[in-house]
Amino acid sequence: MNEAATTAIRVEQTRQSKLPQVDFNNLKFGQTFSDHMLVADYVDGHWTDVSIVPYGNLSLSPATSALHYGQAIFEGMKAYRFANGTVSLFRPHKNLERFNKSALRLEMPEVPEDIFIGGLKTLIDLDRDWVPGAEGSSLYIRPFMFGTEPALGVHPSDSYKFIVITSPVGAYYHKSLRLKVETHFTRAAEGGVGFSKNAGNYALSLHPTRLAQQEGFDQLIWTDANEHKYVEEAGTANLLFRVGDTIITPSSDTILHGITRRTIIEIARHWGYQAEERKVSVKELIDGIEDGSVTEAFAAGTAATLTPITEIGYEGRIYTLPDPAKRVFSNKVLQYLNDLRYGRIDDEFGWNLIVD
Ligand code: PLP
Ligand code: COI
Repeated sequence: MNEAATTAIRVEQTRQSKLPQVDFNNLKFGQTFSDHMLVADYVDGHWTDVSIVPYGNLSLSPATSALHYGQAIFEGMKAYRFANGTVSLFRPHKNLERFNKSALRLEMPEVPEDIFIGGLKTLIDLDRDWVPGAEGSSLYIRPFMFGTEPALGVHPSDSYKFIVITSPVGAYYHKSLRLKVETHFTRAAEGGVGFSKNAGNYALSLHPTRLAQQEGFDQLIWTDANEHKYVEEAGTANLLFRVGDTIITPSSDTILHGITRRTIIEIARHWGYQAEERKVSVKELIDGIEDGSVTEAFAAGTAATLTPITEIGYEGRIYTLPDPAKRVFSNKVLQYLNDLRYGRIDDEFGWNLIVD
């Protein structure tokens, strides 16, 4: 039995909303936080104390195990506001599924559906006025979990916190992307934790990304750990390419199995495009750009939504892709996703979960 089915969520409302101070026309990604957060503790093998409380600081022991040994995982998802005021989550069960896969790989406890989805719905309902409605805006939702045992032995923490904070956001990327193919540093190797959404995968990306940014790139294209010959993903999003009527995306257990990428592949197939999830070599990509067969390339992710790639740097040369305005598939799928997420068209796949 799912013990959380009987776990009530305690709600302590803020006395002073911060909402009047927020400039919704000028949102920087992840810098403004809504009034409440969900917090649950895992102690003695059980989730307990599931509460929604005013957003605020935590008090932690300096020996908190996650700070030393990195048992820390997270998710990224969004809530959207329809024109009629309805608030909707996009495919949240996919995030729950991935969160629990990450948890398993890092020897952390699973979070049950009642706490993850039930908690999210209660939280978003309470902070529904924080969900922006302008095109391209949404409430970014960050569920995360970390080991809290105050102990320095290297072993799985015996206690955890699961927290959800939310943040009204606009676009993560404000322009099309210039990406560098990384052929020296490695993000993830087979058998490692590349598929999981754990904090360490982002920590290790920061230095190589900063070096690429110093060369004028926005982000990296990671390549495989063995040979640096195969395209993996970007630092904050998956990669998709169009060749003819085929949408191609790298597939491996060393990349994050993105929900946006999955969604786009499902839509592409539904529309009659071919979609291939397979190894993509850097050579295939570069040759395709050079001979004009790669007509579209984009990054796809929750924060990134769908961002066109216009330039790719590889071994000192820049390869330029066609004008984003002329990219039929990317533009059509982005429009479709926006129409769906803002409730303007029929939800034919049943992907919107209405928060009522
Ligand atoms: N890859 C990485 C490294 C990411 O951080 C993200 C963002 O979440 C993605 C891919 C795309 O995943 P999703 O579409 O589920 O947001
Ligand atoms: C997301 O798209 O949700 C991400 O996690 C990417 C980044 C902000 C870390």
